[in-house]
Amino acid sequence: MVKEITQQVIPPTIDYLLFYVNGKQVIEHNAEPDWTLLWYLRNKLNLTGSKLGCGEGGCGACTVLISQCINRHTGHLEHRTVNACLAPLCSVDGCHIITVEGLGSVAKSNLHPAQSRLAEMYGSQCGFCTPGIVMSLYGTVTSSNHPHSSLTMLDIEEAFDGNLCRCTGYRPILDAAKTFAKDLSQLPCKDSLKSSKPTTTTLDKCLSFVKKIDKEPHQIEFPDELRQHIAQSIFIKGSLIEWYRPVTLNELLQLRSTYPGSASKLIFGNTEVQIETKFKRLKYPRFISITHIEELQQLKRTPTSLVLGAGVTLTRLHEKLTEWNDQKLDGGICQALTDQLKYFASTQIRNVASLGGNIVNASPISDVNPVLQAANALLELHRAEANSIRLVPLRDFFLSYRRVAMTDDEVLVNIHIPLPSASLSSPSNRTFLRSYKQARRRDDDIGIVSSGLQVELEPIESTDKQQWRIVCAHFSFGGMGPTTILAKNTQQELIGQLWTKSTIDKACELAVKEMPLNDMTPGGQPEYRRTLVQSFLFKFYVYVCSELNKESVDSKELSIAHPYHRPVSHGQQIIPERPTSQKVVGTSLPHRSAYLQTTGEAKYIDDMPSLAHTLHAALVLATQPNARIKNIDLGAASKVPGFVSFVNHQDVPGDNMTGDVVHDEEVFVSSITPCVGAVIGIVLCETERAAHAAAHLVQIEYELLTPTIYTIDDAIQHQSYIGEERCLNQGDIEKALAEAENILEDTIVIGGQEHFYLETNCCMVIPSNDDKEITLYSSTQNPSKTQELTALALGCDVSHVQCHVKRMGGGFGGKESRSIAPCVALAVAAVKVGRPVRMNIERDVDMSITGQRHPFKIHYKVGFTNQGEFTALDIRLWSNAGCSFDLSMAVLERAMLHVDNTYRFQNVRVRGRLCKTHLPSNTAFRGFGGPQGLFGCETIVDHIATHLKLDPLVIRRLNMYREGDITHFKQPLERWNIPRLMDELLISSDFNQRQKSIEEYNKLHTYRKRGITILPTKFGIAFTAKFLNQAGALVHIYKDGSVLVSHGGTEMGQGLHTKMISVAAEALSCDVDRVRISETATDKVPNTSPTAASASSDLNGMAIRIACEEIRERLNKVAANYNTNLSWEDLIKKAYFSRISLSAQGFYATPEPLGADFANNEVHFNYFTQGAAVSEVELDTLTGDWHILRADILMDVGTSLNPQIDIGQIEGAFVQGYGLFTMEELIWGDQTQHKWTKPGALFTRGPGTYKIPSFNDVPLDMRVELLSDAPNPLAIYSSKAIGEPPLFLGASVFFALKNACMAYREQQGYTGYFPLNSPATVERLRMACTDEFTERACVQNHEQFQAKVKIKPFIPKSNKMVRQLTVHLCQISNNIFSHSTIWYDDETFCNGAPSMLVYQWTSNSSLSLFHMDNNIGFQLDKSKSIVLSVTYAEERQLSKDGTGVIVYISTITDNDEVVVNMAIAYIQALIKQAHIKYLMVFVENTKKRLVDPVTPIITGSTEMGTFTPLQKNDDEHIKANEINMCCLF
Ligand SMILES: Cc1cc2nc3c(=O)[nH]c(=O)nc-3n(C[C@H](O)[C@H](O)[C@H](O)COP(=O)(O)OP(=O)(O)OC[C@H]3O[C@@H](n4cnc5c(N)ncnc54)[C@H](O)[C@@H]3O)c2cc1C
Ligand code: FES
Ligand code: FES
Repeated sequence: MVKEITQQVIPPTIDYLLFYVNGKQVIEHNAEPDWTLLWYLRNKLNLTGSKLGCGEGGCGACTVLISQCINRHTGHLEHRTVNACLAPLCSVDGCHIITVEGLGSVAKSNLHPAQSRLAEMYGSQCGFCTPGIVMSLYGTVTSSNHPHSSLTMLDIEEAFDGNLCRCTGYRPILDAAKTFAKDLSQLPCKDSLKSSKPTTTTLDKCLSFVKKIDKEPHQIEFPDELRQHIAQSIFIKGSLIEWYRPVTLNELLQLRSTYPGSASKLIFGNTEVQIETKFKRLKYPRFISITHIEELQQLKRTPTSLVLGAGVTLTRLHEKLTEWNDQKLDGGICQALTDQLKYFASTQIRNVASLGGNIVNASPISDVNPVLQAANALLELHRAEANSIRLVPLRDFFLSYRRVAMTDDEVLVNIHIPLPSASLSSPSNRTFLRSYKQARRRDDDIGIVSSGLQVELEPIESTDKQQWRIVCAHFSFGGMGPTTILAKNTQQELIGQLWTKSTIDKACELAVKEMPLNDMTPGGQPEYRRTLVQSFLFKFYVYVCSELNKESVDSKELSIAHPYHRPVSHGQQIIPERPTSQKVVGTSLPHRSAYLQTTGEAKYIDDMPSLAHTLHAALVLATQPNARIKNIDLGAASKVPGFVSFVNHQDVPGDNMTGDVVHDEEVFVSSITPCVGAVIGIVLCETERAAHAAAHLVQIEYELLTPTIYTIDDAIQHQSYIGEERCLNQGDIEKALAEAENILEDTIVIGGQEHFYLETNCCMVIPSNDDKEITLYSSTQNPSKTQELTALALGCDVSHVQCHVKRMGGGFGGKESRSIAPCVALAVAAVKVGRPVRMNIERDVDMSITGQRHPFKIHYKVGFTNQGEFTALDIRLWSNAGCSFDLSMAVLERAMLHVDNTYRFQNVRVRGRLCKTHLPSNTAFRGFGGPQGLFGCETIVDHIATHLKLDPLVIRRLNMYREGDITHFKQPLERWNIPRLMDELLISSDFNQRQKSIEEYNKLHTYRKRGITILPTKFGIAFTAKFLNQAGALVHIYKDGSVLVSHGGTEMGQGLHTKMISVAAEALSCDVDRVRISETATDKVPNTSPTAASASSDLNGMAIRIACEEIRERLNKVAANYNTNLSWEDLIKKAYFSRISLSAQGFYATPEPLGADFANNEVHFNYFTQGAAVSEVELDTLTGDWHILRADILMDVGTSLNPQIDIGQIEGAFVQGYGLFTMEELIWGDQTQHKWTKPGALFTRGPGTYKIPSFNDVPLDMRVELLSDAPNPLAIYSSKAIGEPPLFLGASVFFALKNACMAYREQQGYTGYFPLNSPATVERLRMACTDEFTERACVQNHEQFQAKVKIKPFIPKSNKMVRQLTVHLCQISNNIFSHSTIWYDDETFCNGAPSMLVYQWTSNSSLSLFHMDNNIGFQLDKSKSIVLSVTYAEERQLSKDGTGVIVYISTITDNDEVVVNMAIAYIQALIKQAHIKYLMVFVENTKKRLVDPVTPIITGSTEMGTFTPLQKNDDEHIKANEINMCCLF
């Protein structure tokens, strides 16, 4: 049928793809339409340089460059970077793809400057992000839009908005990238920095590279064949899906008419559809790619309108709008759209995503739609039938959540935006349009609220000053309802009003009422969103006033009239001279694998080729917390082609109990699930895809148990703890508190943090029948523990298991213990089937199941003198350990040991408890509890300073420990450098002067405030578990003089191997290039401690040094026999022929005193790494958006082993630290704060929802200095550990922001201390900036329905019944009553996000059915209860003064009465409690149509209404009747 159409319409249809990869032709005849480009590159072409970091377009690790000839006649080429994880393979026909392998290779010694500069400037640590970053840089340099000659630093800074790096802190990457910019001279030079110390600036670095003559980079020419390529229609018949690529509009319309509605899916950039298919598991039978339809590509400006093709990419659109931008002509439309596009997704997404895709996608938080709606855009829709074309106003387009007014066969072709100049009511009128967006992060983040605000004003006669009256207003918002919405009532009320502040106040009041969100709003943050609406309106007001008459605006408010323009960032480093006694150690050797990482040649586990017969595994995870597994149904899963086996607890040959410290976890859940995400089983299949598909088809029936505990407060309420309370005492706390001149008491909370290593957990297991050996390849920081626990589960000796780790793409503590369980489970699976098995855990799963940094609740009572001297600290810490012990006690202990930071409290009592909850076990994370304890301490400092009206610095100085002071855990402080660090930093950062300037700035700016803070830190180095402070090393020298070092530490990007190589070279006195480290393996060095606690250089460095010195001693004896100076190679040969051993083992144990003895209040670290930082920030008090203007860090790293690697650790930790304290918010569904998402499941499970700092967040001026003359005799070559200590310095950004908030609050009349929980997200910051807007947004007795009542769980008698209940939700939107049948399965619900909604039947035996949008949220939970949440946003349309909800229930059971009655009873109970005034429940049986006519029930109503009951059960009737019923209200 289709063939017929395609033959009729456009004859030459091809059924294969032709494209080029790195200059080589590829013709693919067997493409599957659901293959992504990334999968193809990695699995079919073996180009593993491009990495899979997230699979959702959010990290950039998969970035490749796609070039295409867009005009055969001119030969014009278009180059664009894209996310290969989103791009369908079928979309690249006719393109040239360049991957990182195409640029250059170490093997061929032909690195592209983008690769070599990044490597040489320390821009690659773990290297997993690096190929993507190289490609983004290469794309920017190559792109025709940025010819090399005109590339600016700003272009460069904006080029990385789609890339994330978790290691470097971005500064070195930006430095390397700036070497390509032509405006370098604008960077500050050394002289301007006024530093007498040996300083290196960004400018110095860039210039040194620019001066270097690079070899002409190896260029891949665009293939001639593709210059002549004529795009043809394509039809590809995949095994399950078909792919069409029409090339004319006619052909497209015919296809759409043949396959209307869900029979086909149109795709352009696929950025949205790929997310739907991957995460929501939506299935489409055929895709119609619309990228090659000329009619969809036009960009035209007529005298009356802008005509924008639906198939124009956002990048092209941005370019054109920039060219067109003319406020007088377009009334601000072009500017408003370009402002919005600047922070729309990322470069990679904008390069492929279309305007039409964004509109039709109908996301309620679209960035573009509010602007288009405000501008009254019209959509031109085409369909094949009789060449029908219609124009639909965008204002009428969005019907309800992701439903649009488009027929099943229509295609959006153009968007028309009327130019206001053509439609003004009078020539003297003026019109303005502006866009606003606030997201959790600027780069690549969907808005929390976005808006397009437009107003037409007419001048009115006035005697004294010019006044303006509102002719019409259009205020459109995203994020304030289930669709992009216009605040129609507000707009209407404003017509005819004067353009004054009081009118805007009124608009704010009306808008808040008109868009009343509540705490069931998906994404939460109702108060913040309501505040943002007002902030945007107010900003718009100031902007319009400033345009009308700049003089009329208070100069202090002018800064909010226009968006903030972020300047170019830069940095500097100060490194003390290296001791002359050292030849290698102390030099800044680049990371050993840096070149390989920049070329993509560095191999991670997922890049390793599979052995023959390798199977792929996918985890089957619990979807319910605290639930008994009643049945596992493998029926559907086992039918997936390629299914081999399901492995569960019954297959464990050894012990199913496991755990890092205490064996309190199960390898596979045997009966009761401890949390969502617990591993129930593993599915083994022949392919990875089959494994994932089958794992999702395993049906598990649960019996829910009570209680479920998610938060620390839940745990305290239920007394749910792990272990006993820990306590530390110093002095007499009760007496000290009783005698204190002042006492303050408060509670503060610090949230958790996801590690977000760029490489997710990955492992491969190779079993062998030969002596029952098992070989593990795992991305783990803890190979020995992985080996031991595998042996335990397999019931074999540890010696039968080997674990190998070459490198990790980041770890940060996340792979210290939580990487082990999946590997152990995989080993069980491999042994069961006797075949190699591999598994790469996808990002969303990895984040959901592997635990995070522990959230803490901290309660303190502090006594102090009137001068601010501390006399007593009574502090309690609770941490959320999750469901098992893991490393939580050690984390808690470290937190307790760091509550003093650098201050003497005199009398101290610290108590700590581990809360046991039904969440995945929380675990180690860089800092290991230290940052949480330190945060508690600095909050106390801040509290006291505010109370006494003193500068916090005064309190810090007054209470600072002195040399020889004893900590609250009885450790004397030796080589105490904090006072010196603070003194030096105060001077070098010019702190006092800047503090004064900030005061001045704040006086002159009402809505932008600055803040500055100086913060010290000390961090104890050593494992508190004494036995872990040991390490081994094995050093072999081969006859040619090459050296192979093995040690117990693993390389995860921190540069450990690079440092260890320099230690070996120094101790052996050989050339550093002769030394190599291959991997970490348990068969080389046994019984290793995890690479953790920052101590790996100290421990392994010492072990290596001992081994090398032993060999060196032997060599010295050989050398003594010769008079001449022997070369290294000759010396080795002589030693060999003299039968001297060229191999040695080294062992090191940190000397006593060491370790923790809590029973005796005594803990001894080896030493303390110390540092201090100053951060200065600027805060937009109306939105919570902020920038770090400058950060200065002074760090005591002893005598650095490798200064640049240490600086990399400092900057990386600092950025990760301010991510923790300001940005990274984990959202777990619970019963209190996040009721809108599934309880016990993680909502923030990917880069789309969880935001780590990005390039745009780097300090504008980043200065790092290493303290001079501070050798540390207690560690290798007088160095100090550095991995974790600087992380807490990121809190200086938090306190600087708090400082800025304080300035605003004081201006608003709110003096005094205010608590600020961590992270200080944009939401928390804005809401802390209390003002008229926040007050209006937080009205207590708001008319909205507050679902705060505690609902008694309803226990249905039959689980089976409830499971079969389906819910039809009816909602009212724009007076159109729409009826949607929505089916949800448990998995969908797990995904939680509104973007994860599925509009299709997914499973007849769904465990829970769930719908959530801004109007109505309804969840049915399978066994324990029906949890129902109902909210209603648009009460205005239902009733004037009430809240109502309409629920339509249908059942599909034969005997549904019980179910229906249960549901109704429950709903009734809820209605009563929640004071809903109107309720209508319709019940029908869709299977037997038993209930006829439907019995309507109205309950809990104070004003009972009447309506006509439904007569029939078919959908058409329902729709008709519902509209009638609406009218009755
Ligand atoms: C990492 C990431 C970040 C994002 N950030 C943002 C953001 O900051 N702001 C924002 O607003 N959005 C964002 N999005 C959403 C998405 O990128 C945009 O909606 C984009 O514009 C979609 O365009 P596309 O061409 O890729 O659409 P596709 O995925 O190809 O299609 C989307 C939908 O539109 C339909 N469609 C496409 N074209 C037509 C047409 N001409 N006629 C009829 N139907 C059509 C498709 O059938 C499909 O239903 C983000 C997405 C990702 C993956
Ligand atoms: S893997 Fe493609 S963007 Fe993350
Ligand atoms: S180097 Fe960037 S994520 Fe590790």
